[in-house]
Amino acid sequence: MNVLLTGGTGYIGCHTAVALTQANHQVVLYDNLCNSHLDVVDRLQTITQQRLPFVQGDVRDTPLLIKTLQEHHITAVIHFAGLKAVGESVEMPIAYYDNNVSGSISLLLAMQATGIKTLVFSSSATVYGDPRYLPLDESHPTSVTNPYGRSKLHIEDMLADVAQSDAQWRIARLRYFNPVGAHDSGLIGEDPNGIPNNLMPYIARVAAGKLPYLNVFGNDYPTPDGTGVRDYIHVTDLASGHLAALQALSLSTQPLHTFNLGTGQGYSVLEMVKAFEAASGKKVPYHIAPRRAGDIASCYAQAAKAATELKWKASRTLDDMCVSTWKFQSAR
Ligand code: NAD
Ligand code: UD1
Repeated sequence: MNVLLTGGTGYIGCHTAVALTQANHQVVLYDNLCNSHLDVVDRLQTITQQRLPFVQGDVRDTPLLIKTLQEHHITAVIHFAGLKAVGESVEMPIAYYDNNVSGSISLLLAMQATGIKTLVFSSSATVYGDPRYLPLDESHPTSVTNPYGRSKLHIEDMLADVAQSDAQWRIARLRYFNPVGAHDSGLIGEDPNGIPNNLMPYIARVAAGKLPYLNVFGNDYPTPDGTGVRDYIHVTDLASGHLAALQALSLSTQPLHTFNLGTGQGYSVLEMVKAFEAASGKKVPYHIAPRRAGDIASCYAQAAKAATELKWKASRTLDDMCVSTWKFQSAR
């Protein structure tokens, strides 16, 4: 297939570019570089031994998208492009709705104009809100508590309407749990600007001595050690989940699919700290801090649907996640 990756130079997009290229798909990267760097294209060349076409553009630029879809004879799109920081979305909701929701509408218009009807969308476990039960299966009710989550849910709902309107669409809504880790080469990974919001990049910077200690947000949750529990998934497993989704869509007779991409296993903050210390050989000092507003106690996936219908399962261990993160961090 000829696959356009919007947000293709971002963290998950570039790992997916590797997985698709290695499975002999033709990949085109489309990104406005608002949260990634052009040197990712060089790094991808080192990893894949191929120069992947890159178009610098915004997903809200419908004419440029149409031109790109046509020029590269695209047959499927994976839509990663978007803004993803929860706290920032509370401060800048208009920017989030513009980028994420308007960007998705622009993409759908471009796909409609060019007759391309196969789409994989990056959604998030955040659409489940505060879990009513665990593990979270795909039929768990959705709810949101911040503009980022609401933008994802709006897009999911729009995609359901699009699939309902025309049975030729093949759409997969992938709900990611907590992606972490990096490519085995150490060449690509997650390198947020400024102080990281998410746990794994924060731990990596503490281990590297770039930050003094980790703040553990709360140790009084109803979890085994009192700290928050999440379903961390290795980004290369997540990437292969996209490959599986594209393959399943090409065989499917149904227009709309929704899958959790997680491992089904939760780890606490303190378990993550221990695992990272073991993988890196470095100390990760921490202080117990108050709970972070909006955080939930536990969140992990029921991963059975993807296993059955996509024939996909995460296989990388927590140690793999920490070792690859450390290799990437050490090379920075
Ligand atoms: P990322 O920020 O590394 O990648 C997103 C990419 O999209 C960046 O390269 C950015 O420059 C680009 N982009 C943003 N707005 C754009 C626009 N208007 N036009 C063109 N390009 C644009 O983030 P990521 O972690 O790779 O996330 C990819 C997708 O997965 C996002 O939609 C995110 O919401 C979703 N997601 C991520 C996580 C996570 O923890 N990383 C969890 C659940 C869902
Ligand atoms: C966050 C987002 C979520 C998004 C997900 C993607 C929030 C509130 N939620 O989820 O919408 O889909 O990222 O990866 O931002 N922690 C610490 N200290 C830190 C950082 C985190 O103790 O410095 C704890 C948190 O309290 C939580 C766990 O580590 O228990 C994971 O946090 P994080 O990596 O930010 O992910 P989520 O909160 O699950």
